[in-house]
Amino acid sequence: MSEASLSQEHHTFPPDPAFAAQANGTADLYAAADADYEAFWAQQARDRISWATDFEQTLDWSNAPFAKWFVGGTLNAAYNCVDRHVEAGNGDRVAIHFEGEPGDTRSITYAELQREVCKAANALESLGIGKGDTVAIYLPMIPEAAVAMLACARIGAPHSVVFGGFSADALNTRINDADSRLVITADGGYRRGAPSALKPAVDAAIAVGDNPVEKVLVVRRTGQEVAWDDSRDVWWHDVVDAASDQHEARPHDAEDPLFILYTSGTTGKPKGIFHTTGGYLTQVAYTNSVVHDVHPETDVYWCTADIGWVTGHSYIVYGPLANGATQLMYEGTPDTPHQGRWWELIEKYKVSILYTAPTAVRTFMKWGHDVPQKFDLSSLRLLGSVGEPINPEAWLWYRKWIGGDRCPIVDTWWQTETGAIMISPLPGVTTLEPGSAQKPVPGVSAQILDDEGQPFTEPEKVGYLVLTKPWPSMLRGIWGDPERYQQTYWSRFGPKYYFAGDGAKYDADGNIWLLGRVDDVMNVSGHRLSTAEIESALVSHPAVAEAAVVGASDETTGQAVAAFVILRSEAAADGGGPDIVQELRNHVAKEIGPIAKPRSIMVVTELPKTRSGKIMRRLLKDVAEGRAIGDVTTLADSSVMTLIKEGMASGAE
Ligand code: WTA
Repeated sequence: MSEASLSQEHHTFPPDPAFAAQANGTADLYAAADADYEAFWAQQARDRISWATDFEQTLDWSNAPFAKWFVGGTLNAAYNCVDRHVEAGNGDRVAIHFEGEPGDTRSITYAELQREVCKAANALESLGIGKGDTVAIYLPMIPEAAVAMLACARIGAPHSVVFGGFSADALNTRINDADSRLVITADGGYRRGAPSALKPAVDAAIAVGDNPVEKVLVVRRTGQEVAWDDSRDVWWHDVVDAASDQHEARPHDAEDPLFILYTSGTTGKPKGIFHTTGGYLTQVAYTNSVVHDVHPETDVYWCTADIGWVTGHSYIVYGPLANGATQLMYEGTPDTPHQGRWWELIEKYKVSILYTAPTAVRTFMKWGHDVPQKFDLSSLRLLGSVGEPINPEAWLWYRKWIGGDRCPIVDTWWQTETGAIMISPLPGVTTLEPGSAQKPVPGVSAQILDDEGQPFTEPEKVGYLVLTKPWPSMLRGIWGDPERYQQTYWSRFGPKYYFAGDGAKYDADGNIWLLGRVDDVMNVSGHRLSTAEIESALVSHPAVAEAAVVGASDETTGQAVAAFVILRSEAAADGGGPDIVQELRNHVAKEIGPIAKPRSIMVVTELPKTRSGKIMRRLLKDVAEGRAIGDVTTLADSSVMTLIKEGMASGAE
């Protein structure tokens, strides 16, 4: 079949009987969850997690939307992810095969991981960190990132991981909002064949104004020179290596916070989504088992996400480690030193489960299937997708050229807020429909509502995705802002429905198709960015008077940031021009991080606004996507769009 014709016919893929025979997920899970969903989750919690004290009540929803799961239960997440596997006799099993971008490798067994986590936990305590203190983690993709998170979990100090690609300013906001007294970072990491520095961003983040940081714990990764403040900075290899490898994992309450993770919302201020211990661990372990079908004795699992995103939290650290799996962790980019790097790693480590994002698949499609074809990918038996809708073409390419036409693909819909996978096929059970995440996993309930908040099931009608029952790994709130939690997620359609912010539809078979965000959140390469956040970064530049940002569709990254700016008169008099565009792109990278850099910035003299002054982003999206401009009748001044279009045609950047 030619690639062009791959998507022409409607294919579905029934489960392969051999796969189904060994699958962790089974059809009876749906019936069990439907019959009594609290009993279902109680059983998952007891089967998959080791509790120090059993819980008395499965769910307390009396103070909705503030949930309590597994009330009265106590546990230690790090014990569950590490120690219990050693106690069960699996200490020699590799937990993490690490491959650095330059090609350095380390394989860490569960017994070694236990010693590392204990040492790190002792080191944190020696630095004065205790239960309830938040710790910011700003690290590259190295095993110390997982060790640091688990050490925090062990002592009950919620971690707040900040993606290493975020800027000093973004880090500063997050450190202050979470009130973190300790930052764990590294001198740098390897990126595209060269060391790139991290510590200077931490230094800059805490150089300004009042901030809570007392100590900075620094991992030596690249060996590059770093500025050093003796009263504040501590080397990881000094304090962690010297610490005892014995540390008691004391139990924490099921509802004690495990971590905070910031994500973009519809306003300029990122939200600190926080998760607690028992419910979160239960659902990530459960989904990693039934959706990724991890068999810890035999599989080599690889999730390509960065630990700075929720996918890295749930499906590199907590899910697979709770299940005692062996996984690959890779530091670098897919094209360093060559475009076949991932496939080389799969061949080398005999990776059997690959979990990645559609944007990566589309990039590989662009590079051509002859790249993966040069490698032996026969160890793969399951593929997963996360972060944005995967278009059927990419799905079919993934199956054919990576999955050898034999691996099931699980398209998994979930969010930072949901903590774990919510909508996904069960491999070995579900007949796969390319492009659709299909059905809520057993134990999860979803519906699609119309504008009036009425549920419907008609196929092809577009509505809003909502979740209709609480679930164990649900966010417990927005750090320090309970009102915003209620307002953002539980008010759009009343207090009964969790509003996900995604558009969705059913097909004739009742499968759910996710259609992207319905709010001002963009999805660029599977990363969430808010239009408001980028707009405020742009207007913080002295040359900019006003800015509007939209997500324009992009073949590879799903969406790309398209910005429209009005310059202040002095800057405009200087001619604006390509220099200012470049400067503004760099400014956004500095304010937020390189991932937020606009693909295009167009200097305009007016922005399209309604008579009440609201920017009509819909029209700007038409321009950015090269479409005919839609209805302009509500514009205060309809000639604005003519001007913008003319600017576009004349090649303004
Ligand atoms: C989008 C990432 C379609 C969606 C785990 C959601 C998806 C947002 C899918 C959450 C999918 C994630 N199909 N859309 N399989 N997975 N999304 O918080 O818009 O970074 O609301 O969590 O990504 O992004 P977040």
